[in-house]
Amino acid sequence: PAMRIDVVTVFPEYLQALDLSLIGRARKRGRLDVRVHQLREWTHDVHRTVDDSPYGGGPGMIMRPEPWGEAFDALAPAEGPVPHLLVPSPAGVPFTQRMAEQLSTEPWLMFACGRYEGIDQRVIEHAATRMPVTEVSLGDYVLFGGEVAVLVIAEAVTRLVPGVLGNAESIVEESHTTGLLEAPLYTKPAEWRGHEVPEVLVSGHHAKIVRWKRDQALLRTARTRPDLLAATPVGEFDKHDRA
Ligand code: ADE
Repeated sequence: PAMRIDVVTVFPEYLQALDLSLIGRARKRGRLDVRVHQLREWTHDVHRTVDDSPYGGGPGMIMRPEPWGEAFDALAPAEGPVPHLLVPSPAGVPFTQRMAEQLSTEPWLMFACGRYEGIDQRVIEHAATRMPVTEVSLGDYVLFGGEVAVLVIAEAVTRLVPGVLGNAESIVEESHTTGLLEAPLYTKPAEWRGHEVPEVLVSGHHAKIVRWKRDQALLRTARTRPDLLAATPVGEFDKHDRA
């Protein structure tokens, strides 16, 4: 059964990237059902207004609740199954590989893309009376809107959906799946511009290669992401680990 993804945005063109590459292929093969909607379709004034000034003052404009309410009514009627609504926001919970794994098991995701300073909070409150809602942040920086965040989240999630990625094995060892960064990777030629592929990888000694990859992952993580290493439960380390 295909995973359904609805995206509501005032910039549907941003989501054209979802027609490309492996996500595009998965859609053509019927593994993903992606639908992008223009929020302005749910406005009624001639200017198709989606924003207004903030109560309480402050800079910029806020997305008005009414078009969002109508969009949710149309896409996820109160009776029947409901999607998990994801609202990208720098004020959300940090997006992680763990979250991507959980979301990849859900049958239906819906994304609400905020622009300007953000969406009226009652949109999230009201949606939460009907469906699971998660405000999610890509990281501690600010984008113009949620569209690029949707591309990132949709890619991280859908590549974990069975049948989307050709080679399911490549998911098992990669960075963040194990909680550590992945060891460096090499292909042919064995020597290139004076740089050689590490000897052990061409040795054919499987057990040594496994140990080397593990050591490299530990070293790399210790050097560039000590926070990840510190968060690894002691039980995850084996007796040969040292860093
Ligand atoms: N919208 C604006 N900034 C964002 C961020 N850092 N993460 C998710 N959505 C956003």
